[in-house]
Parts: sequence; structure tokens; C-alpha cells
Amino acid sequence: MTRMNLAGRLRRVRDLLEEPLLDLACRILMGAGGKRTGRRPFGAEELKLLVRSLAAQNLFGIGGKMVPAFEREFALAYGVPYAVGSTSGTAAIHLAVGALDLNPGDEVITSPITDLGTIIPILYQGGIPVFADIDGTYTLDPADVERKITSDTRAIIAVHLFGNACDMEALTDIARRHRVALIEDAAQAHMTRYRERLLGTIGDFGCFSFQQSKPMTTGDGGMTVTADEAAYQRMSLFVDKGYARKGWGPRAYLFHAPNYRMTELVGAVGRAQLRKVSGVVRQRARLGAQMTALVERIPGLRPAPVTPGAEHTYWMYPVWVEAGDVGRMGEALARERIPVLPGYIGKPIYLCSESLAAKKTYGDSHWPFSLRPDRAYEYAPGLCPRAEETLEHLLCIAWDESWTPRDVERVARALEGAGRTLAPVALTVPRLGQLEAVRPVPASGDGGLRHRLRIGVVGCGQVGRWHLDAYRVLPTVKLVACTDVDAARAAECAQRAGARPYTSHRAMLAGERLDGVSLCTVPATHHEIALDLLDAGVPVLCEKPLAVSLEEARAMAARADARGVLLVPAFKFRFHEEVGRARELLTRGVLGEILAFRVMFGGPANVRGTWYVRRSLSGGGVIMDIGPHAVDLIRFLLGEIEDVRAEVILPEGWEVEPTARLAVRLVGGATGVVDLSWTVPVPSPAYLEIYGDRGALLLDRQGLSYRLAPWAEWKRLPNTSTAEQAFARQLAHFADGLTGRGERVLGASDGVRAQALIEAAYASLVSGSAVAPPAPHVAV
Ligand SMILES: Cc1ncc(COP(=O)(O)O)c(C=O)c1O
Repeated sequence: MTRMNLAGRLRRVRDLLEEPLLDLACRILMGAGGKRTGRRPFGAEELKLLVRSLAAQNLFGIGGKMVPAFEREFALAYGVPYAVGSTSGTAAIHLAVGALDLNPGDEVITSPITDLGTIIPILYQGGIPVFADIDGTYTLDPADVERKITSDTRAIIAVHLFGNACDMEALTDIARRHRVALIEDAAQAHMTRYRERLLGTIGDFGCFSFQQSKPMTTGDGGMTVTADEAAYQRMSLFVDKGYARKGWGPRAYLFHAPNYRMTELVGAVGRAQLRKVSGVVRQRARLGAQMTALVERIPGLRPAPVTPGAEHTYWMYPVWVEAGDVGRMGEALARERIPVLPGYIGKPIYLCSESLAAKKTYGDSHWPFSLRPDRAYEYAPGLCPRAEETLEHLLCIAWDESWTPRDVERVARALEGAGRTLAPVALTVPRLGQLEAVRPVPASGDGGLRHRLRIGVVGCGQVGRWHLDAYRVLPTVKLVACTDVDAARAAECAQRAGARPYTSHRAMLAGERLDGVSLCTVPATHHEIALDLLDAGVPVLCEKPLAVSLEEARAMAARADARGVLLVPAFKFRFHEEVGRARELLTRGVLGEILAFRVMFGGPANVRGTWYVRRSLSGGGVIMDIGPHAVDLIRFLLGEIEDVRAEVILPEGWEVEPTARLAVRLVGGATGVVDLSWTVPVPSPAYLEIYGDRGALLLDRQGLSYRLAPWAEWKRLPNTSTAEQAFARQLAHFADGLTGRGERVLGASDGVRAQALIEAAYASLVSGSAVAPPAPHVAV
């Protein structure tokens, strides 16, 4: 054998052995020492490609092997033509914003709940971040995005928070109609499906972060994808100082741009990670779905919302804590070594950064805000109320694909335990604290109201006085008029409220400029007074019953509709804490199929000799008086009513029934009994009982009790606010309606529907059989 032959053979043996030896060595090395438990994103695959990069004696990405291959493979995996690698998620977004070539002062709309990495690129490019509020998915509310669009808007950055998609159908439509670019910040949503597509590939640009905590990671790194060739060309230059390396002579920098070049080391790790990411996110999604099923059964907690049409891939698992301090709950979980972030970023991003809150950008210049002295860009509390409230309630669990289903069970158990030990404070219905912070603005949104809401109370009996006392604690309200046919009563109430007395609503209308009125007169007068008020453009909160007949109720709702003026029935139970909690549990389906329910609103109340028993004033007996509350509660918690049959006890000499029982059947088939009485005591401490095949709920004025399958012990959620506070919440809801703020919980149609059921109940007394409620609307 010649020397040459021997060397050649040895080379061949080395070539043959190199791959298996490298494999073996990498596996041994990655298995040796280091972190053995928990999340271990890196393995032999990464090390092998790292060795190859180093062995190539070049770590510079441009013209290298790993970075171009990573970009090609990433684009292929996402099904898009182009991808550009960079040094971080922030850089990836900067590439997209850079490709738009903003003019200083252009506006970019984005989400208030995100990492500062979404915002920095806007400011660096001279753009002005504009924040739209979120909706129940914790991502951008498309309606608010559209409201925030101006002639200066150039782009929307949609943040797919925690791995949950924005409503991309709506946002794509808005972006197209207003001709603005749509950038997807998919830093937290890798390989996440949305209506047959992948997040990041729906808008004009998709931006990904490979920071250590992300589903695929290179420690730090980023990628921007696009289908637009021109944008791709610009991003390829933008990542490299604008340097046109080919075709422009020895040195040509075509525009102002940073250096965000990815190195071969990052490209190598990225390529290995890309092969794993689908498996990682699918496992995170599986564990997340298990968590949702567990959290749904824990009273006081809400699981992560999932946007319709999307899968959630849980970069974090956000739990909404109804009541209690999420900070203390986080501490309790940390003691059990469960990694959590109470409140995620704590406050909306516009309050976290001095470059927004104090506009401290470049020296003392306040640039680019200084370019627009005509526009007041204020980054202050109240800018996105829903986001601000959401962050107070969220407890974010750092999700981990290395967990097993048993780990998830342990986390859920710890959550339940931590929740039990903390005092509940928050409610699902509008809170007073929240409302106090609200500055009234007219629904037209053209500036702030200079005055507090000017409110009148018509009818100064017991109920009118409740309204009056509750308005007095609302800082947004000024009571200006108290009206009663009894002049002495009107004067007494007016003095108490610091308002002017009137003896007729017409005199009040002539004498006052009103923003709203509580109508608390006897029911037979509601129709006439409400029509006058609505005709004068004054919104009405009308005590129950809305009217004494369906025809009148329909006419009132139609007038409110025609005049575009608010008419709200006073169904106060919707604002009770225990009712809000019950609705929470019922919408999550924790009781399973609803089988039966029972409502008990009973006296005795001393109504003899009062207007209550005079049909010409009251319109009916206890069915007309308390029936609307019962019917509304059933509709609010359990759904629409199919039919109703009433039985009454009518003692000698009574004009109207003081005691009644309604048999109610729901559209879904469940049946229930409603006992109403001014004379007979309630046979149970609970006023509402609901029974399902997987649990039962009992509601009383002090709280809620529940028991779930396998029918272990009863649990109790006591109320933390009084009935007076619940009543005040109802009025605050009305006041919110006057300023165009807050969620609408009740409307005129609810009053009309309740009236239709009251009418059906009385009709059943005549027919002797169950009667379906007449259509709430007049047939045209
Ligand atoms: C939603 C979102 N956008 C942008 C970024 C910025 O990414 P990076 O930290 O890689 O710059 C992050 C990072 O956490 C993020 O979560």
C-alpha cells in the first residue's frame, strides 16, 4: 500500500465516521451536567449545527451558510416567500416599520398590553404610538382600532398576546378599507393557526421573537416574514445599515438604518429550533386546554379566552382572578414554585415607559410628539380602561411544554388554594371605584363635558328616595330636580339632594337642562311621563314595571329608539354581586345541563291601603310588581322563557293578587317555579335556586353557595358589598350610558321582554294553560 493510498483511506474513514461521531459527541456533551429538569429547549441538534458554524471559520451571517438557510427554511415552514433574520423581536418589528418608511409624526395604532419591543421601533422611526383598547380576548378591539384611525395613521400592529390571535378578519378588513399596513407582532404566537392560516402570514408583515422564553429560541433573535417583494428588499437593506452591497459601487448606504444582522451562531440554533417548534406549541396548546377545563371549575377564576377561529398556543396562561389581590396570589404560588407574573406587565405599556408617559425621547426635544402641537397625545391612566382593568385581574402562569398533565393539575390545585386564602374584593359588574375614575364625556366624543351629569328624580316615594341617595354617592352626578305631585314630598327630597323641587315633570322639563331622569312614579304613569321625557331628548331610567301593559312598553321602547335616547329598566338584581358571580359560573357551564330552578320573592309586605293594591295605579298585583325582577333574573342567568302559567291567591275584597306562583318553561326545556308574595313568608333563605346535572347554586342577599359534582360539601362566596352599593352600581351603569362609556348590561328591550312575560302570565289566568310571551316587537 502506497503512502497516498493510506492517506486517502484514512480520509475516507474519517469522512464516514465524522457524522456519527459528531452526533454521539454532541449527545454526550448536551447530556453532561447542566440543567436536568424543567424546560430544556436545546439539545444535540443545536450543538451539532453550532460546531459546523465554528468549523466553517465564519460567523458573519451575510454570505454565510446558516443565516440564509435559516431564513429560507423559516419562510418555507410558514408558507411565505420571504423571511429576514435579525437580532431580536424588537428588531424584527423595526424591520417591518422601517420598510414602511414613515414620515415623522405618522401614527401607528397598537395594543396597550404588550412588550416595549412593539413600541420602540415606532418611536425610533419618528412615528407616534396610538393605543386602541382591548376586548374580551385581551387583544385589540377592532371597533376601537377603527375609532382611532386618523388621516395620519400608517399602520396597525396587532399583538397576538400570550399566543392568542387578534381578530384578524376584522383587522384585515379595517386595514384594507383605510389603506394602512397591518403588522402582526407574533413574538408570543409561533406556529399558531388561525382559520387555516398561520399567525404572522395574514397581515403585510409577521414579526417573531426568539428571546429565551419564546416557543422557539436562540437566546435572542428575530425574524420578519412578508409576501411583498419590495418590502423584503427594503428589509434586507434595513437590517444591514441600509448598505447596498451589490450594484451600487464600493460603498452605498441607501437610507438611515441600524445594524441588526443575525450571526451564524444564532442562525445555526434557529435552524435546529425550527424543526422542534411545531411539537413545542402543540404540547403547550394541549396542556393549556387541560388547564382551561380545570380553571372553569374553580369559582372566582376565569380561564384564558380563545379568539373565535383561533387555536391558543399559550406562551403564558392568563387566569382572570375575579376577586382578591393578584400580587398576593402570585406570592402564594411562587412559594409553591409555580412561576407566575401577577398582572403580566403590571400596567399598560404606555404607563411603563418614560418615553411615552413623560415623552422623554431624544434629549429634551419630546420629538416626535413635538411635531404635532395640534394633537394632545396623552399617555395617562384612563386611556384604555379595559386594558387597565384587565391587568389588575390577570395572573399569568409561565407556561412550559416540559410539564405533564399532572403538573397542570398541581398548578390548578395551587391556584384554587391561593384563591381561597385571599379576601375577595372585585366584582363582575361595574365597580364604583372604576366609575369614580371616569371623566364624563358626551357620547359624541367631541371633548369632555364641563359639568357633572344633571339628573332629576321623578317620584319621591320610597323607591325615589333610594335613587336619590344612591346618586348622591356618584361623583359624576349632580342632582338638580326632585319632582312629585305631593309638593311637600318634592320639597323635602329636593332639600336633601340640594336640588330644585317640582310638582310635575313638565314643569321640571321647562325649568331644567337635564342629562337624565330616574322615573319612580306609580307604574300607570310611566308611559306618559317617559314619552314626554324621551321626546324632550332626556334619557330615562325607569323603575319596574316598565309600564302596565306590553303595548305601552313597546311604545316607550319605540320612542326611545326613534329619538336615539336611552331608556333603561331598573332591574337592579343584575347589579347584585351574587348574581354577577352566578352568571360567571353559569356561562362557564359548571352546573352542566340546567334541570330546574326556583325563584322566591316573598313578603310579607304591608301593602294594604297603598297604591300597590289599586289596579288603576299599579296595573296589577304582585305579578306586575315583583314579577319583572323574577323574569329578568331568569332571562339574565338562564336564557329566554318559552312559556309561563300563573296561579294566584285572590282573597276576598282584594282588587289585585297579593300571592302568585308562576310555572316557567325555558326555551332549552328546563322548568322552574316562581313564588311571588306580599303576604306569605319565603320558605327558604335563598331567593334563587338553580339545579343542574353537575351542580347547584343558591343565591341569597348575602352571597352565593354552590355545590358541584361529585356533590362534595357546599362552598360559599360571601358578598363583599352591600345591597346599597349594588343599587348604586345600577345608577352608575345608567350614568355610564349617558356618557357613552362602560358595557351596556341592560336596555329597553329587556324591559319590553319582561313586560311580554307579565302579560303572558296574566293571560294564562284566563286561558287556564301555559301561554307563550307575545313577540316583544310590534309586527310590521
Ligand atoms: C409581544 C412582544 N412583542 C415584542 C417583543 C420584543 O421581542 P424581543 O425581546 O425579542 O426584542 C416581545 C418580547 O417579549 C413581545 O412579547
